[in-house]
Amino acid sequence: MPETNSTDIITRAKAHLTPALVFHTDIVAVEAEGLYVWGGDGRRYMDFSSGLATVNLGHCPPTVTAAAKDQMERLIHSGCIFYYQSEVELAERLARVTPASIEMFFFSNSGAEAVEGALKLARFVTGRQGIIAFTGGFHGRTLGAVSLTTSNVKYRNRYHPLLPSVYHAPYPYCYRCPMGKERATCHTDCFEQLKRILRHQINPQEVACMVFEPILGEGGYVVPPDDYVMKLRELCTKEGILLVADEVQTGFGRAGKWFACEHWGLQPDIITMAKGIASGFPLSAVGASREIMTRWTPGAHGTTFGGNPVACAAACATIDAIENGSLLERSAEVSAYAMTRIRDLQRRCPSLGDVRGKGMMIGMEFINPDKTPAKTFLEKTQLKCLEAGLIIVECGIDKNIARLMPPLVTTKDQMQEALDIFEEALLV
Ligand SMILES: Cc1ncc(COP(=O)(O)O)c(C=O)c1O
Repeated sequence: MPETNSTDIITRAKAHLTPALVFHTDIVAVEAEGLYVWGGDGRRYMDFSSGLATVNLGHCPPTVTAAAKDQMERLIHSGCIFYYQSEVELAERLARVTPASIEMFFFSNSGAEAVEGALKLARFVTGRQGIIAFTGGFHGRTLGAVSLTTSNVKYRNRYHPLLPSVYHAPYPYCYRCPMGKERATCHTDCFEQLKRILRHQINPQEVACMVFEPILGEGGYVVPPDDYVMKLRELCTKEGILLVADEVQTGFGRAGKWFACEHWGLQPDIITMAKGIASGFPLSAVGASREIMTRWTPGAHGTTFGGNPVACAAACATIDAIENGSLLERSAEVSAYAMTRIRDLQRRCPSLGDVRGKGMMIGMEFINPDKTPAKTFLEKTQLKCLEAGLIIVECGIDKNIARLMPPLVTTKDQMQEALDIFEEALLV
């Protein structure tokens, strides 16, 4: 491994990289493979962040690296001047693994860019302006996407005025009900609140789309109740509003299925995806039905770098690896083991107020005895984990939710080792 002076790299980073960029650790990554990252400090870390839910096959998966290298030697860039095979193959493969309602794709580079594309597509084909998003959601940092993002006000500070005609309905976060109700007796009151927006603030006939994370990511790894998801689909269909599933974080097996929508049999009108799509190469996509996508006329949207040939080749190899390695099934077993163990830990540790999630997307809400968020306790736990070589990142507005999002290739033994570290950090 090449020698790296971490202190030197960090000093130079601070001199020439914008301070707006926040790094989660002080580790300088020198090399990475699978679940592991080797730091300039010579230590090996278990990356339970997957580079922010992105390297779903682990770092540098060999078949993806090989496919990217092969493509790189033949064609690196097209800029929409030429057609090329890797992009077409990817679109065909995606049509196979996305929900049945999704048939055609527009490729771009980042999650936020995909969200921008989805907003433009929805406005273009409906001729309507209004957009409904959900409080606590994270959809990216570009001006359109950040107008929907409310996971934390810091993303919006000093950027107003944002996109007009964006309305926010409460996300169904039952552990901390936005309507102050208990799940057993609430009658999905937050859905009633959404309907009130359509009566008091914007007529449904003026709403182009609702943008919904099937599982809330940055906002706290919250799984919505089944009836809420189905009601949302019914409402959108009734009012001719396009339902956009933002699967940037939940997609590509992260939540135990190809896409989290499948947990509810949800057929979105539009889907956005990024992160895990190409194992770390910058790529994202907006998908829609043929009926919707063919109404987006030539030149209505475009890109120079989107759908880069190398990134598309990497994405095809990523899909192959998930299928050939039966990674959805394998990761489901490891996730079930983790859930059982964490729920057992929860019984012994009252500070773990809620444990939730699907697949390799597990959230643990740290609380004080009065149920207030226990941010400091989580920070201490994370620090102890890091000292023991385990990287765990947080989410939620109060930064009190630990999110476990290891690669899908994580074995049961590796999960066991990580949970041993976590448990000791938590209890000792
Ligand atoms: C659900 C969701 N949408 C959009 C984004 C934005 O993606 P990017 O950071 O690639 O722009 C994210 C990033 O975390 C996300 O989780």
